[in-house]
Amino acid sequence: MKEIICLGIESTAHTFGASAVKSNIFEKGYGKSSCEILSNEKDSYSTKQGGMIPRDLAEHHYKVAPSVVKRALEKAGVTLAEINLISFSQGPGIGNALRCGAITARQLALKNKVPLIGVNHCIAHLEIGRKLCGAADPVMLYASGANTQIICYENKYYRVFGETLDMGIGNFLDTFGRALGLGFPAGPALDKMYFEGRELIELPYTVKGMDLAFSGLLTSAEKKIPEIEKGKIRKEDLVYSALHNAFAMLTEVTERALAHTEKKEVILGGGVGCSKALQEMVGKMCEERGAKLFIPPAQVMVDNAAMIAWLGILMHAKSAKVAGGGTEVLPKQRTDDVKVSWRE
Ligand code: FE2
Repeated sequence: MKEIICLGIESTAHTFGASAVKSNIFEKGYGKSSCEILSNEKDSYSTKQGGMIPRDLAEHHYKVAPSVVKRALEKAGVTLAEINLISFSQGPGIGNALRCGAITARQLALKNKVPLIGVNHCIAHLEIGRKLCGAADPVMLYASGANTQIICYENKYYRVFGETLDMGIGNFLDTFGRALGLGFPAGPALDKMYFEGRELIELPYTVKGMDLAFSGLLTSAEKKIPEIEKGKIRKEDLVYSALHNAFAMLTEVTERALAHTEKKEVILGGGVGCSKALQEMVGKMCEERGAKLFIPPAQVMVDNAAMIAWLGILMHAKSAKVAGGGTEVLPKQRTDDVKVSWRE
């Protein structure tokens, strides 16, 4: 096979996505392979209040799935018959949402009589970033709504060097932002305010071994909000202080993973990776250590189907299978459950 076109389906959380990615990996091997994102379509569930209700989330995904897939094929300029492989997010994620992606992918694969492959969502972030940025062997700081992990490759597995013990960094930012009346998603507004902060207010800083916890920081920061109304502190200073501590915790663990593994590259992944404040802080740390920081394009840092298609191609090229084998969904699948047989 000269070229392969994979249709990837993403549905771990609020985003239902479909993307066609073309590659010549079978002919050229990984090093010289192309990763051409022909389309990257999505439709995201949103609410004015509260968060994601799994039942409503699934309803949204089932409703938009046919049109998102149709758009992905149209934008890519290909028909379903021209698709050689279908991949989907197998886990981790919200069960109801994952099942919608798996069912859609299974139907399309059966209809088209092409192979179907389930992939790990977190590893997909790392692999697409690695390919698009040309990073060889980076430590990934994966910072998203539900996931916060520091991951890197060691002896056939993407090992988790540190992770959150309670909530994802994105959930922390959104909950704090909601308490400040900033709406959802609150990340961009908080990021802007961070740069207007002048004074550091004392707040908890929780790194336990290599792991992190954000709930104490959240409670303390929320308790200080009435002081803004009383004119005792500035809103910008509270935001600056909360984000400063949260991002410094992430940066510290990333730095320790670099020191331990002696790797020389860091790559960002996840929607919070788009934060200029986080990029600046991790960038400074990398500069001081003589490491290189890679920031992938925003469209692959947030949840997207192009990364699912790309990891599907990588795994298919090496006939790799995810632990658990079949095409069932694995809501609690861990990054370090997956044997990485596609890397040299
Ligand atoms: Fe993600």
